Amino acid sequence: MSSKDRLIIFDTTLRDGEQSPGASMTKDEKVRIAKALEKMRVDVIEAGFPIASPGDFEAVQAVANTVRDSTICGLARALDKDIDRAGEALKGANSARIHTFIATSPIHMQHKLRMTPDQVVEQAVKAVKRARQYTDNIEFSAEDAGRSEIDFLCRIFEAVIDAGATTLNVPDTVGYAMPHQFGETIRQLRERIPNADKAVFSVHCHNDLGLAVSNSLNAVLNGARQVECTINGLGERAGNASLEEVVMAVRTRPDVFTCDTNLDTTQIVTCSRLVSSVTGFPVQPNKAIVGANAFAHESGIHQDGVLKSRETYEIMRAEDVGWSANKLVLGKHSGRNAFRTRLQELGIEFESETELNEAFARFKDLADKKHEIFDEDLQALVSDAETAKTQERIKLVTLKVCSETGETPHADVTITVDGEERSVTASGGGPVDAALKAIESMVDSGVNLELYSVNNITSGTDAQGEVTVRIKKDGRIVNGQGADTDIVIASAKAYIDAMNKFLFSDARAHPQMGDV
Ligand code: KIV
Ligand code: ZN
Repeated sequence: MSSKDRLIIFDTTLRDGEQSPGASMTKDEKVRIAKALEKMRVDVIEAGFPIASPGDFEAVQAVANTVRDSTICGLARALDKDIDRAGEALKGANSARIHTFIATSPIHMQHKLRMTPDQVVEQAVKAVKRARQYTDNIEFSAEDAGRSEIDFLCRIFEAVIDAGATTLNVPDTVGYAMPHQFGETIRQLRERIPNADKAVFSVHCHNDLGLAVSNSLNAVLNGARQVECTINGLGERAGNASLEEVVMAVRTRPDVFTCDTNLDTTQIVTCSRLVSSVTGFPVQPNKAIVGANAFAHESGIHQDGVLKSRETYEIMRAEDVGWSANKLVLGKHSGRNAFRTRLQELGIEFESETELNEAFARFKDLADKKHEIFDEDLQALVSDAETAKTQERIKLVTLKVCSETGETPHADVTITVDGEERSVTASGGGPVDAALKAIESMVDSGVNLELYSVNNITSGTDAQGEVTVRIKKDGRIVNGQGADTDIVIASAKAYIDAMNKFLFSDARAHPQMGDV
C-alpha cells in the first residue's frame, strides 16, 4: 500500500468520547485504553484536552509517556495558554501532535466568539505558529465547518497551511451535514485551496442525525485521508463516527475505496469491550460489528445458508474483528498458564508476577462460584480489579442482605473510607435498594440515581451480572460499574465505583465552552 493510499485513523475516544455525559475516565483507565488502541495500530490517539483540568493534563502526560507506536495528540483552543499546556503535556511522547481549533461558522463567530472573520483567521494563524514551537505535527480544526461558508473555509485553511498546519480537520460539530454535501465540501476544499497538497484533509463527524459514518465515508471518497472516530461511536451528544464501522466499511469494500487503514482489526472487539466496561456505556446488541448479535443468525433460512457457505449471509468474518471462534472455556481446574495464555490472547498483559497472581486468585474465587469461565468473565474480572486498584478510596468490606416474602428487605453494609471503617443497616424496596441506601447513608453524597441497569455477562443463572449506575448532582454526571455472580454485590460495587469517581475526581472544563 503506498503512503498516498493510507487512511489515517485518529481515535478520539479519550477526548470527544469522554465528553459523553458520564463517560469520564481516570488517568489509569485512559492509559489502559490507549495501550489497547496502540495494539490495534491506531495512527493517532487524541488523549485529552490538557487545559481542561489537572487530571486531564496528567492523563495526556501519562499516555504520552507510555505509548510508543501511535502519535499522541492533545487538544487546545486557539489560545496561547491552551497550546502551551498541550505542548507541556506531550513532552514525553515519541511522536506528538497538537490539535488546535477555532469556530468558523457565522453563528459561532457572531454569537459564541464575538469575533470578526478577520480576527478568527488571525487567531488561527497565531495559534498554529505557537504550536510549531512544540512540534511540526499540527492539526487545525475549523469548528462547525459543517455550517461554515466554503469561501471562508478555503481562506482560513490556506492561511493555516502557510503557518505550518499539516492536517486540516473539517468537523461537522453539530451533526448537520448530509453525506453528498459533505463529500462535495471536501472535494471543493481540495480543489480550491492552492496549497492543499501540503496537508492531509481530515473529517470529524457527529451523529445527531445518525449520519456520522456515512458523512465520513463520503468524505473519504472525495479525498479525505484522516477520519476522526471513537470506539463504539462514543462522544458528545449522539456521539462520533464509530471507528469499527468506518474501518470495516473501508476494509470490506476495497472495490469502492482506493485507500485502507493500517489497523489490526482483530483487536476491535477487545477495544469495544474495554471502552464499554470503563465508561459503563453498554453496547446495544444490534450495533454493527461489535454488538452481541452482529454475527448471530437467528432465522432458519439464514442459519442453513451460512452452514452451507458462510458468504451467503456474512460479508465479514467474525474472527476478523476479534470475535473468538473458539471461546476457550476455563474452569476450576485450569492452571495459571492456561489463565495467563488466554488473557494474553485477549490482549491483557500483567505488569508483574504479583499482579498475575492476584488476578489468578480472583479467577479461582470466581471459578468456585461459576462452573465455566468465558472470555467475557475474564475481561470483567480484570476490569473490576483495575477499577478497584486505581480509585478505591471507598471500599466495600462486607455486605449481608435479607430478603424474604412478606418482610421488608434490609442490608447490613460495611465500607471503609480512606481506611476508616463504617457500618450501617438500611431497609429498602428490595435488597439492591437497601444496599445502595445503606452506602449512601454512609457517604452522604446527595446524588440522584439516574440509571440502574443489570446485564448478564454470559448466559445461565450462574452468570456474572454487570451493573451500571449513573448518578447526577449539580449538572455533573458519573457512571459506575461492578460485576459479580451476586447482583446485589455487583450493584454495591457499581455504586461505590461511581462514588469514588464523583467524590474524588476533578471537574473538567469543556473544550467548546470558554473564552476563545
Ligand atoms: O466536534 C468538534 O468540532 C470537535 C472539535 C474540537 C474538533 O470536537
Ligand atoms: Zn467533536
